[in-house]
Amino acid sequence: MHVDELVTPALLIDRTKLFQNIRMMAEKARQSDVMIRPHIKTHKCLEIGRLQLEEGATGITVSTIGEALAFIEGGFSDITLAFPPTPEKIPVLLDIAERATLKIIVDNPSIVAELEAECTGSNVILDVLLKVDCGYHRCGVDPAKDQALSLVQSIENAKHLRFRGILTHAGHAYNTSTVEEIAQVATQEQETMVKFAELLQQKGLAPEVVSIGSTPTCMITEGFKEGITEIRPGNYVFFDATQAALGACELSDCALTVLTSVVSVQQHHIVVDAGATTLSKDAGATHILPEKGYGVILSDFNSNTPAEGLQFTALSQEHGKIRIDGASSSKSFRVGHRLRVIPNHTCLAANLSDRYYIVDKDRVTAVWAVQRQRFAKDLE
Ligand SMILES: Cc1ncc(COP(=O)(O)O)c(C=O)c1O
Repeated sequence: MHVDELVTPALLIDRTKLFQNIRMMAEKARQSDVMIRPHIKTHKCLEIGRLQLEEGATGITVSTIGEALAFIEGGFSDITLAFPPTPEKIPVLLDIAERATLKIIVDNPSIVAELEAECTGSNVILDVLLKVDCGYHRCGVDPAKDQALSLVQSIENAKHLRFRGILTHAGHAYNTSTVEEIAQVATQEQETMVKFAELLQQKGLAPEVVSIGSTPTCMITEGFKEGITEIRPGNYVFFDATQAALGACELSDCALTVLTSVVSVQQHHIVVDAGATTLSKDAGATHILPEKGYGVILSDFNSNTPAEGLQFTALSQEHGKIRIDGASSSKSFRVGHRLRVIPNHTCLAANLSDRYYIVDKDRVTAVWAVQRQRFAKDLE
């Protein structure tokens, strides 16, 4: 099928770029002798997960129980759920632990007690990682505080829990403005974890897993320090306009674009059929590129070069409003005219769609499903 035959809006994935990105990160992990456990929340796609395993990933990272269940059904057997559990999810987690190799994360004593209580009377042993805050200040324990050590001790003491290691996510890399700043966050991420792992080792609690990873830090670090065992980048499979603004990739590396059609031509603007339900309302790296709109509009079908004079100014549910200025004129557009857009945040755009069109140049060579909306169904 030719891409012109697709009904818009449609998510296109450039097969060559996708393969390049998957191989590039796998190679980076190999060079430092660390394992790679990609976060599949970016793509939620069995075919892409399989490509990552074929290129050497040891397993996958997920954020939701729905993702875990969908990927287990798809044949995946080694899963880290890198999202803090809540008490009502524990029974499902125990069920998953019987069907796959599962690691979960914790960062507070109450959930450790709840997990242990729920397992009492069963033979289940849950593999647990301690979530560490390496500077992002979202979730995780402060490794410099005594509570971090005592939490590890309480996991170790729990009959049905097995302490397997430590995990962090350097999400503050997204607040940086230069690649030098990303490099500093990457150093902080790795040093915090290696130092804490050494402390645990001295206390007789050596972590088997020392897991780090965000796309910007994994991209910008020269190599991973001795003591890091695993990386968990996710976004790198597609990249996006935010990663390019940060300097973590080039626009030409972006594998996912949104194909959209012009639905209305006005004097100084056009309207396309990619609104917030396609692109999300993520405003991107506004601290670097203020008012850059909701994605990068590309100049033609074959290149990832930004179009001059075209900029998203507003998104409503299904409408995307694009201002035309400078060299461009609305006269060059007609209803049905097609544009491609690199979203600011591909993880969110992917989550809004139910399928990807895999393209080789202008041919659609496959259609792959996005596994989402499973959580509620599976808990019923
Ligand atoms: C816990 C955790 N690990 C890994 C990742 C992957 O990071 P990125 O999206 O930068 O590739 C994320 C992303 O939010 C995360 O929350």
